[in-house]
Amino acid sequence: MPGPKPLIAGNWKMNGRLADAAKLAGAVAASVRALGPDGADVLVCPPFPHLGAVGQALSGSRVHLGAQDCHAEAGGAFTGDVAAEMLKDAGCSFVLVGHSERRALHAETDGVVQAKARAALRAGLTAIVCVGETLSERDGGRTLAVVAGQLAGSLPDDANAGNLVVAYEPVWAIGTGRTPTTAQVAEVHGAIRAGLSGRFKDGAKLRILYGGSVNALNAAELLAVADVDGALVGGASLRADTFETIIKAAPRR
Ligand code: 13P
Repeated sequence: MPGPKPLIAGNWKMNGRLADAAKLAGAVAASVRALGPDGADVLVCPPFPHLGAVGQALSGSRVHLGAQDCHAEAGGAFTGDVAAEMLKDAGCSFVLVGHSERRALHAETDGVVQAKARAALRAGLTAIVCVGETLSERDGGRTLAVVAGQLAGSLPDDANAGNLVVAYEPVWAIGTGRTPTTAQVAEVHGAIRAGLSGRFKDGAKLRILYGGSVNALNAAELLAVADVDGALVGGASLRADTFETIIKAAPRR
């Protein structure tokens, strides 16, 4: 059975100024337009203040707009936070939750991540829930247990392949230029797939992205691994040409 259609997602993190974001989005839209209707689904996740301009630059293209985080509540006294409903209004169809930088730098627990994922679903967004082990967890042989625990605690129960994506991002591979071997990726993605299939009716169709130092050179190899249904790309998504190479490296399904 062919897997789900790949999704190539760019997480721009806290990079660039407004003009850079609009220019990059325009270039991504142009390259996806040139690729035609086939090929991978494409998503870009700019910083919050750039969502409007990026959405405008993407208008008329099939590139999706997403955000990098949301709050669990729909509104209230939460200074500096952004509700999933606001992201929906801003034109988003996806939101990342539980990125390891949020888990580490903002002390987000599995419970917080699950509440954010539920908020995304409530607002009609697709949640991309990120999981992944640290280097010491991998070295200690705990990768599968850590990832299984994160999935158990962070995924909303009423999700399905239409509103939930899982991103496996080993913390030690993010921004380091180091990637797991294809065998290591296959092992973790296979375990995630088994867990999703046991928990969700359409778990076999849920997309599982790989993220962590994906670049123009390694994308084809990583995207060809079983149960890798796309990529979550950080640094290499900040250049339209490398991001285009990664989009083109996705298998056609
Ligand atoms: P890099 O691709 O820069 O390693 O970042 C990965 C990531 O964190 C995407 O969410």
